[in-house]
Amino acid sequence: MSNQIHNISEELIKELIKSAASVRKNAYAPYSHFKVGAALYAENLDGGYEIIIGCNVENASYPAGNCAERTAVFKAVSEGYNKFKAIAIVGGADEKTDYTSPCGICRQVLREFVTPNDFYVIMAKNENDYIIKTLDELLPMSFGPDNLK
Ligand code: THU
Repeated sequence: MSNQIHNISEELIKELIKSAASVRKNAYAPYSHFKVGAALYAENLDGGYEIIIGCNVENASYPAGNCAERTAVFKAVSEGYNKFKAIAIVGGADEKTDYTSPCGICRQVLREFVTPNDFYVIMAKNENDYIIKTLDELLPMSFGPDNLK
């Protein structure tokens, strides 16, 4: 499933998926055994781009765990990047992969930093099998920074 309308290149999509699959190996998921990797495409200070990766990090106190997507966003923002264009997510139980849809909290965290109809969420089983949705499709009528002005 790779023919949706979007404006990021096939090459970049594959690179993001490869990065997400690679960081997924670091997932710390001893409780759920559901391992997730995320790769965020972020504009850097020179107008170029960086790929910032994250995995899920669980905790013996279950609610203290963090999703892969938020790990990537928080890493990025703390390193000075806060303009994002896309995120690839590769997840699944144990070594399997399935299309992994970001949770509601991660959707809202992403919302803070993006234009919802111009930010692409790539949910991938592998480099050749993925679904792309805009954040606006996944989080319609969202509440964002402009609402507080
Ligand atoms: N998880 C993510 O990291 N991202 C998602 O998009 C879905 C869920 C994690 C949280 C938890 O560590 C495990 O997957 C099971 O929910």
